[in-house]
Amino acid sequence: MDNEELKKLPIGFMDSGLGGISVLREAVRIMPAEDFIYFGDSLNAPYGTKEQTVIRALTFSVVENLLKQGIKGLAVACNTATSAAVRLLREMYPELPIVGIEPAVKPAVDRSQGGRILVMATPMTIAQEKYHALLNRYKDQAEIVSVPCEGLMEFVEQGKMEGEELNAYFREHLLPYLTEDTETIVLGCTHYPFLKSQLKKFLNHRTIELIDGSLGTSMELKRRLKVKGLLREDDRTGNVVIQNSSGKQDMIDRSYELLRLPVEDNS
Ligand code: DGL
Repeated sequence: MDNEELKKLPIGFMDSGLGGISVLREAVRIMPAEDFIYFGDSLNAPYGTKEQTVIRALTFSVVENLLKQGIKGLAVACNTATSAAVRLLREMYPELPIVGIEPAVKPAVDRSQGGRILVMATPMTIAQEKYHALLNRYKDQAEIVSVPCEGLMEFVEQGKMEGEELNAYFREHLLPYLTEDTETIVLGCTHYPFLKSQLKKFLNHRTIELIDGSLGTSMELKRRLKVKGLLREDDRTGNVVIQNSSGKQDMIDRSYELLRLPVEDNS
């Protein structure tokens, strides 16, 4: 296939479920002429409490499926899958532009005023070597504390993005880490940006900045496609196709609803 034909292919996105749509909606915003295929592996979710070998196998099979459909680039829109598998994916598909997402620790440290930075992420992201290397890079510049959030992605998968149950989760799992000097919370799982408005209510009057890596990741994807001459800049509006391993239509419907949520609604 020559570059002009390749350029017309969609960009593949994957996540363990609906979370990666928080990244997809940024990508659609900054690359409106592109087509996208998003695959949410809700049948096998959550990834964040599984063994590394299992996460790798699940990720590889989703990526193979997307490649079979034909894609010109790939976003692993899942922190857990990125930390477990992105290095191997790059070895397996050296020609394919691949971006992953990792907790936005760097921007949090760059903006730091000296207070505590909390990183909410899945237990598996926090356990991975890739994350330890990330923390090591910044450990002398700020106090960074990891908050394992087992069970939190499920709220988004089930469409419970606000309410007392979620509030109780924050009380139990987040409150013990919140100190007077906490200044930033990094949302280190792509599901969590959809919980922002309830999280803000929970944090009440505290001035804590919530940061995630969705825009940064989409910008990196755009940059990589451009470098390869694969970025579509023609005057058209692209299509988004969403697929989900659960086989349930309501998961697909909910996915499109999340995609349509304006970013401001959750900021
Ligand atoms: N959305 C995923 C992430 O960014 C993980 C959720 C899960 O499957 O546990 O880490």
